[in-house]
Amino acid sequence: MSGRKRAAVLISGRGSNMAALVQAAAGPDFPAEIALVLSNRADAAGLDFAAAHGIPTRVLSHKGFADRLAFDAALDGVLREAGIEIVCLAGFMRLLTPWLVERWRDRMINVHPSLLPSFKGLNTHERALEAGVRVHGCTVHFVRAEMDEGPIILQAVVPIEPGDTPDRLAHRVLTQEHVIYPKGLELLAAGRLTVAQERVEIAGVEGGLAPLIAPKV
Ligand code: GAR
Repeated sequence: MSGRKRAAVLISGRGSNMAALVQAAAGPDFPAEIALVLSNRADAAGLDFAAAHGIPTRVLSHKGFADRLAFDAALDGVLREAGIEIVCLAGFMRLLTPWLVERWRDRMINVHPSLLPSFKGLNTHERALEAGVRVHGCTVHFVRAEMDEGPIILQAVVPIEPGDTPDRLAHRVLTQEHVIYPKGLELLAAGRLTVAQERVEIAGVEGGLAPLIAPKV
């Protein structure tokens, strides 16, 4: 398929969401290609997977830079040099400057392991269990300057089960991340998303709202 959008995936570690994006983008009708996988850590396990799938990889360590802005400027340079049009954060454990986020406004998406706006930040599964919520899940959203904030594109609900542990819950949530993240990229690359007053509308869906992805309970 010609005219596919060039997407970069930014990782810091395992890269299982990146792998899900790569696998989805291998489909003939997928509207984006993964043109670059970039990690801020040379030891990110996901880099091997990307290289093995013939995807250009790049390591840009945050360590050699004077401050966040200098790192983000270099990162932006790499993305532009590679002709990137969409950026997918996939376990990229760096806080981005408002400058970078603004430059990629509505072209940068993230996946987060909770039903935002609940449980921003780290250890979401432990915190969900501690809070005693009945449902948990994951979110794909546009990136804004505040951490784990931004217009919501898709969410998947994962019910808490009796006797759940953070690990068991994390596993079930991750499985859903691998479903909704490729779907979110597909919608964005196909030009089906618009953001109005910080809410996402999906073209071709009744009411513009994404169908809720929830397993039967
Ligand atoms: C994923 O669970 C992702 O949702 C989370 O990091 C993990 C990365 O795993 N991201 C965040 O918490 C962002 N706030 P992966 O490297 O296997 O994709």
